[in-house]
Amino acid sequence: MQWFVSILLCSVVFFLCFCCGTVGKNGQYTKRREDSNVFTLLWWTPFALSQGEKRICGDGTCIFTEDRSLLRNPNVKINGFLFYGSDFDPSDLPYPRKSDQWWALLHEESPKNQPLFCHAPILTLFNITSTFRQHSNEPLTLQYLSSIDKLTDSSKYINTELKNLLQNNGIAPVIYLQSDCDTPSQRDHFVQELAKHIKVDSYGSCLQNQQLPQHLLDATATMQHQDLLALIARYKFALALENAGCPDYITEKLWRPLSLGVVPVYWGAENIKHWLPNNMSVVHVLDYNSPQQLAQYLRQLNSNDDQYERFLEHKLTKVVRNEVLKKSISDRVWGIDNDPSKVNFIENFECSVCNAMHMHQANPGRHIADIEHYGCPSPNTILGTLRANKPQHKDFKQGDHVDFNIQERGDSNQGENVVPSWGDPYNHWEEEWHRAKLESKKLGELLNSGRYSPETYHDDVLQYLIGKGHFRKYPPSVHQEL
Ligand SMILES: *[C@@H]1O[C@H](CO)[C@@H](O)[C@H](O)[C@H]1NC(C)=O
Ligand SMILES: *[C@@H]1O[C@H](CO)[C@@H](O)[C@H](O)[C@H]1NC(C)=O
Repeated sequence: MQWFVSILLCSVVFFLCFCCGTVGKNGQYTKRREDSNVFTLLWWTPFALSQGEKRICGDGTCIFTEDRSLLRNPNVKINGFLFYGSDFDPSDLPYPRKSDQWWALLHEESPKNQPLFCHAPILTLFNITSTFRQHSNEPLTLQYLSSIDKLTDSSKYINTELKNLLQNNGIAPVIYLQSDCDTPSQRDHFVQELAKHIKVDSYGSCLQNQQLPQHLLDATATMQHQDLLALIARYKFALALENAGCPDYITEKLWRPLSLGVVPVYWGAENIKHWLPNNMSVVHVLDYNSPQQLAQYLRQLNSNDDQYERFLEHKLTKVVRNEVLKKSISDRVWGIDNDPSKVNFIENFECSVCNAMHMHQANPGRHIADIEHYGCPSPNTILGTLRANKPQHKDFKQGDHVDFNIQERGDSNQGENVVPSWGDPYNHWEEEWHRAKLESKKLGELLNSGRYSPETYHDDVLQYLIGKGHFRKYPPSVHQEL
């Protein structure tokens, strides 16, 4: 009988100590230590295939799940929601929102993808972000550059003498390789103009004038194919034109030619100088007033080997001088290209949210994303940014504040919308950006009113936008099915 009593006593003690929590000094109830340290984070937009696994992230532990039915489980507290930007759907949001629930945004994609994040009323719904902007909490700016060695490696590099020979045999000085032809930057219009003044070999489906070999035709599968890299490496210049312009938005379009020893002719992030290996690593489209003037400069470099090779310091002397770039790469805890020695950027995002929430618990403070966490400006076409009367772009230094000086369409500054003389057709992406601006404002008001639901989103926000003349080209058929 005694053993029974002992076990019973032990169980009671165990139960009291570990299961029921304790009454704190001030009389308030405090949960037992382990409970209060495990947060449940729900991927509202399924993305990471999380099945409810528990992970230790620094000082805190979190459960990551995609199971929305947990919201109806009275025993589970959802501490935060994780969103993948491309799947963000304004008609499907976890509202009403509890005041202590965190929202976290992962969005490494171009502003072409979801223009709502260009606007403050949406961005400030989030407490923490991981985007390509350097001011986000976990910046992904260098997501397409695996290492500094990649920039100095010369295993694929073709020297200038050989490139000259290849040109004598008929290849163009410039390569263009693009298969996404309708983009906010309207790069094809620009390339069309440029090609009137310098020969461009175009292999992708946009403005195609050259055929890729059969085995390289699947653009997404062969991006890293050795034969494709060897083909690009033969050129002196590669057009590196992003699909949209936003500070810190940099893709493989820049890093691939740089890594091959081909000089990129770059348009995209206006603060690009902040990230380049050396002070003369690319030809900046924005330094020229017209495609013709740019072509003239490229022709000049093409016929002067010494001048051309000043752009290849990272290959010829294997020096990368940009300390910001080197430090960002060496400080980076996540890996790319499935680096087995590091976590990927998705796991890094999950854990950084988990960590920040635990740190907030110990040390409360305000955590709200601001416009610098994404906030891309109204889409400018490349031709549109080249107008002769536009001030030259600034040299950005580390920590510089980017001032977009965003103008509404129809504002007094009509000069901003004048079509340049060489013709820059109406850009529907610009309309989408302006629609998103109105939409974010209306949606913000609806969320604050406490009346948000898929139906009120449709009635208040979409009807308002349709009334304002939006969705003429792209009717919101998906939303109307609600
Ligand atoms: C680039 O940097 C080098 C070395 O610091 C310097 O000598 C050169 O003047 C710089 N060139 C330009 C164009 O800034
Ligand atoms: C998280 O963001 C929401 C929306 O902006 C805000 O109301 C809340 O106070 C934020 N939480 C923290 C800890 O700052």
